Amino acid sequence: MPRTKVMAANWKMYKTPDQTSEFFRNFLPLVSGHSRDEIVVCPPFLDLPAALEASKESKIAIGAQNVHWKEEGAFTGETSAGQLLALGVSHVIVGHSERRQYFCETDDTVNLRLKAALEAGLIPICCVGEVLEEREAGLTDDVLRRQCVRAFHAISAKKAAKLIVAYEPVWAIGTGKTATPELAAEAHAVIRSEATEIFGEEFAGDLRILYGGSVKPENSKALMSQEEIDGALVGGASLDPKSFAAIVKY
Ligand code: PGA
Repeated sequence: MPRTKVMAANWKMYKTPDQTSEFFRNFLPLVSGHSRDEIVVCPPFLDLPAALEASKESKIAIGAQNVHWKEEGAFTGETSAGQLLALGVSHVIVGHSERRQYFCETDDTVNLRLKAALEAGLIPICCVGEVLEEREAGLTDDVLRRQCVRAFHAISAKKAAKLIVAYEPVWAIGTGKTATPELAAEAHAVIRSEATEIFGEEFAGDLRILYGGSVKPENSKALMSQEEIDGALVGGASLDPKSFAAIVKY
């Protein structure tokens, strides 16, 4: 069975609730009838109600950009899996490189967030990827393997069933530099082989691994044509409805 692709938008810290509604007003007609792929939009927390309301008659899933590992408590500024589920959110991005780079996210906190998301029934999109110095030093495979081992620590294949992974080379995020389809496919194969070791062959064969890093309408088709690439996590180019629709429909 071929893996169904997941085309996901990561809006980062962009758009107000009104701008979110406007995006969907324009985006929905462009993808109506498009049933080949799963579409997920991950707006800022503040925009989740507007996104859920605007997408409720469609098949588009709505995701958050982070989740805390505790059910509740004195954790100012954090949001729990239960709170997201109560709103109707189904997906969550975990361990994005911007969280790792600017907000002290570590492999260990990624593991905690991932466990909490899976335990609660959210579908996590777990991000891994090397920085430029690591790639230049020939450390990409080691970094990807380490990030996977630590992120998936003490999670069973059964618990991880809904897991989605995103390979996002940090040097390609927001820089306009895209990994070549071949280079991305190589990294995906490393991630899939690590997933085989951790969760077994059957699980790894079904695991969707998305590519992220300067995906745009011009390169979507070439990237998505790689058998190893099971979708995209799109930042900048997902903010415009026409551009994201073109990426989805490559
Ligand atoms: P980009 O971001 O498409 O703007 O490079 C991708 C991401 O960070 O998920």
